[in-house]
Amino acid sequence: MNPRRILVTGGAGYIGSHTVRLLLRQGHDVVVVDNLSKGYRHNVPEGRLRELSLADTPALTALMRQHGTEAVIHFAAFIAVGESMREPARYFANNVSGSLSLLTAMVEAGVHHIVFSSTAAVYGNPQGSPILETFPIQAVNPYGESKVMVETLLRWFDEIHHVTSVCLRYFNASGADPEGQLGEEHEPETHLIPLLLRAVETGKPVTVFGDDYDTPDGTCIRDYIHVNDLAQAHILAVEHLVGGGASDKFNVGTGTGHTVLEMIGAVEAVTGKKVPYVIGPRREGDPPSLVAASHKLRTKLGWAPQYADLRTIVEHAWNFAVSRRAASIPE
Ligand code: UFG
Repeated sequence: MNPRRILVTGGAGYIGSHTVRLLLRQGHDVVVVDNLSKGYRHNVPEGRLRELSLADTPALTALMRQHGTEAVIHFAAFIAVGESMREPARYFANNVSGSLSLLTAMVEAGVHHIVFSSTAAVYGNPQGSPILETFPIQAVNPYGESKVMVETLLRWFDEIHHVTSVCLRYFNASGADPEGQLGEEHEPETHLIPLLLRAVETGKPVTVFGDDYDTPDGTCIRDYIHVNDLAQAHILAVEHLVGGGASDKFNVGTGTGHTVLEMIGAVEAVTGKKVPYVIGPRREGDPPSLVAASHKLRTKLGWAPQYADLRTIVEHAWNFAVSRRAASIPE
């Protein structure tokens, strides 16, 4: 793709920072908007960060004009399903109103393309597996619903303002930058792989949420997708849109599912240590199996995962955990 001027919201967070790194490596001119409520300054290369709230429509408009933004990649959002069940208003305000402000600024500044971080959570408890993009949209928590609402906003902004969009519905983002400089640092951490690695390091057992599901070993199945493969999907989506492609929605997953116990096996193989764990009750709202049908992304955008192997994903996450401990990166 020719070099493009791309504005990335949430570029100081986990998936955003990996995408910014790939964009810069591929020669694009990137500006990051992040209020650092969840992201980290150390994730953004020098000179690229603008500390702004998405609610500040005039500031976003001015930034897009000054930068000459051609496309936006929109990551900034709250992501914790459990928290969204306790504080729905915060999720709708941040995720939906924030996106509306961003879209308003785009229209003001004449920016016509956006790639949006959506989620497999828009499918709720899906009717079957693998999950196709045409499956019913039926979120079962405010987090997922907030993403559905933004997908709806995007449809109307295309219809009325000719802003084209790609919604990428992520499955389980995981792994880390292969060079070990970026990785997953959520606070508090709720995701399986970092928790398993932490258990290996601290010796404190992790709880496996249920082993009585109707799956081969009784634990939940997820489609773990390497964060760099996810990042590459965003770049292909920008290319599609700036090349005149129509608005669309894609699952981003490998198409292969793994159980929690398989993941524990992969962590033990990579670290050479036993993972201390206990079996606990099911976590409320966990679907037994979420696996993407990924052929639409492969055929329409030419995407192919480079790091689909579970062991590679865990290796990269482990390298990051080790390097971060060694460097003890400041906030
Ligand atoms: N799990 C455990 N113990 C833990 C943490 C997780 O057994 O301590 C299990 C979960 O039950 C699940 C699997 O590990 O089966 C993965 O759990 P994560 O919390 O890592 O991820 P989720 O599948 O729950 O959620 C992810 C994203 C959400 C998104 C969802 C969409 O984090 O943002 O996928 O399906 F909404």
